[in-house]
Formats: sequence, C-alpha cells, structure tokens
Amino acid sequence: MNDSRALGVAIVGVGGIAASHMAALRAMSIARLVCVQDMDRARAGAVANEQGCAVEDQLADVLARDDVDAVIVCTPNLTHQSIGTAVLESGRHLLMEKPLAMTVEAAQQLAALAAERGLTLAVGHSHRFSAQSRAVHDVVASGEIGAPRFARIVMNGGWIWPGWQAWVLDPAVSGGHSLHNGVHLTDLAAWWMGEQPDTVFARGQAVTSRALDIADYLVIELGFPSGASAVCEVSRGERPRKASYLEFTVVGTEGVVTRNWDADGIRAWQEEGLSMWAPDGSAGDVFVAELESFAASARGESAVVPPVADAVDAVRVAAAAEESLHTGRLVRREGAR
Ligand SMILES: NC(=O)c1ccc[n+]([C@@H]2O[C@H](COP(=O)([O-])OP(=O)(O)OC[C@H]3O[C@@H](n4cnc5c(N)ncnc54)[C@H](O)[C@@H]3O)[C@@H](O)[C@H]2O)c1
Repeated sequence: MNDSRALGVAIVGVGGIAASHMAALRAMSIARLVCVQDMDRARAGAVANEQGCAVEDQLADVLARDDVDAVIVCTPNLTHQSIGTAVLESGRHLLMEKPLAMTVEAAQQLAALAAERGLTLAVGHSHRFSAQSRAVHDVVASGEIGAPRFARIVMNGGWIWPGWQAWVLDPAVSGGHSLHNGVHLTDLAAWWMGEQPDTVFARGQAVTSRALDIADYLVIELGFPSGASAVCEVSRGERPRKASYLEFTVVGTEGVVTRNWDADGIRAWQEEGLSMWAPDGSAGDVFVAELESFAASARGESAVVPPVADAVDAVRVAAAAEESLHTGRLVRREGAR
C-alpha cells in the first residue's frame, strides 16, 4: 500500500449496512471508496452512480484492480468464508461484517490466513466503537467499580424482524439469532468483563410468529472463569417497534456503571453516591470510528479492534448458544481465555 494516499476500499454487497460504511467513507480522508460489487448488478450500478465510484461485475474483477488496498464485505453471513478467503488470498486487508464466519472452524481459517499473510482482519463488531460502550469499558477498566461481577445488556427493537423475505430469518444463511445479533451483546460482555465465557446457556422464543425458524426473543447467559456472569437479551419486545432500546449495566465489587437512555448519559455509582457522569450516552459516529480504526490498522499504525481472537471467540460463544437453544442444556467451553 502506498502510504502517501488514502486507503483504497472496495465494498462487496451493497445492501442495508453497506450504506453506513459508505457514509462513513465520505466523512474521512484516510480511506476512500474506489469500487462496489454486488450479485445484484442493477443495485451495484445504482450505488456506484450515487457514490461516484466504479462498479465491478465479479469479485475477481474487484481483486484484479490495483487501486484496491482493502475490502469491506457486507454480504449475508453464509458467504463470509468464501468471500473472505478470496480477499485475503489476494493480499487485501479485510473488514468483514459480523459475524466473522458461520462456524468456529471457518472463523479460525480466516484468522490463520490473515496472520500468515500479515494482513489486517477486522470484524464489524460495531458496538465496540460506540461512545457509550467505550465509556462503560473505560469505567470498568479504570477499576472505579472494582472487579466486575455481573453484566446485563439489553438490545430491543423492531429491526430484529425485517420481514418474511429477509435472509436473516433463515438459520442456514444467518446461523440463527445468536450468531446474527447475539454476537453484538456477547462480545460487549466479554470485552467489559475482561475474560471470555466458559459456560453458555440460552433460551429463545419465536414470538412474532411460531413459524419463525429463529428465536426473535433471545436470552443468552454467560458464565466466566472468574465466577462472574452476564445476561444478554436481544428481542423485538420494544414499543413502538421502530424504537431501539439499549440498556447496559455492569455491577462491580465497589460500584455500578449503567446506561439506560441517551439523555441520562453513562453513570457510575459507588456507596457514597454518583462518582462519574459522562454526558454522552449516545452511540456517536460508530461507523466512522470503526473505519478509522480499520484504516489505521491496515497502515500498521495500531492494533486491530476487536482483536481477531475475540471475533473468533464471538463465533464460538454463538455456536454454543445455538447448541444450548436446541438441547436446552448449559454448554461448557473448555480452555476459555
Ligand atoms: N454491524 C452491524 O450493526 C450490522 C448491521 C446489519 C447487518 N450487519 C451484517 O452485514 C452483512 C450484510 O447485512 P445487510 O443487512 O446489509 O444485508 P442485505 O441483505 O441488506 O445486503 C446484502 C447484499 O449482499 C448482496 N450479496 C449477497 N450475496 C452476495 C455475493 N455472494 N456476492 C456479492 N453480493 C452478494 C445482496 O445482493 C445484497 O445487496 C451481514 O453479515 C450482517 O450480519 C451488520
């Protein structure tokens, strides 16, 4: 990569989430969109016109361009392994939308390939980049609330069921709700608690319709090697449906950090009362922060966020949650970090 110019980025798959990445790219100078590709050629052509970038017919055409330094993959989860492998084998840095892959084995293969080639492999665990998530992390890491013992994370909203036509409802394409949306919550829990869970128990319900093959109301309980635990709830239980509800609490030995509403900000409480209040409880510009981090890592200026091992672990935890959903049993994971 030529350091004197912005990172040349291609986007593969220009559906819903790609729009957020394209808006972020327009807002930054260290990376620029050079081309898009989608199996829906008409959609790719329309997006290229809007964005003022090139359009390519096939993935191989994208990877044959010499102005592409990095690829953002925004296609359905089932395609991540094959597209990710082709991108890394071509020597390009990769920002893979979450989840990294459908299976632990596929996630490990992608991680090994990136390491072997010395390429940045970032996974779009976008909640790691929100102002509110970082504030919670910083409070916990500072020791202000003592050792973290419990975390509770709730993400409720109508967006979880986007309509019968949506691929996310097909577990063969999405991997099920634990893998599709659950990874956002379980990754936050592990990041904040500073350890990976060694037990996973999940309960799910198909509330929108019994015909659903995924659990649109899902609770994942995590147990950690230190004895700490977390409850992650992701459902479309919010009203009105178009609203998005987000609640975080981490309880430590010396205090509590919590975020209920944007307007409340992030609050940390100790026995003596409120010890910290950060006014920004909102998400902030998550996709700009994510892409800046990715570009900096591709340039060799900083470590990748999240660490690849954490993204592989997110898949491992999701696989355990899906197993628990189907067997009704607690799943133990040996050798959790
Ligand atoms: N980080 C987040 O908060 C977040 C939010 C939503 C989705 N996602 C992830 O982003 C990815 C895309 O989700 P989406 O909601 O944008 O989906 P989408 O259905 O809106 O868009 C997917 C696009 O990929 C194209 N596509 C499918 N297979 C392809 C292939 N083999 N080659 C090229 N193009 C192909 C489709 O034609 C479509 O345009 C998924 O991995 C999803 O889990 C992440």
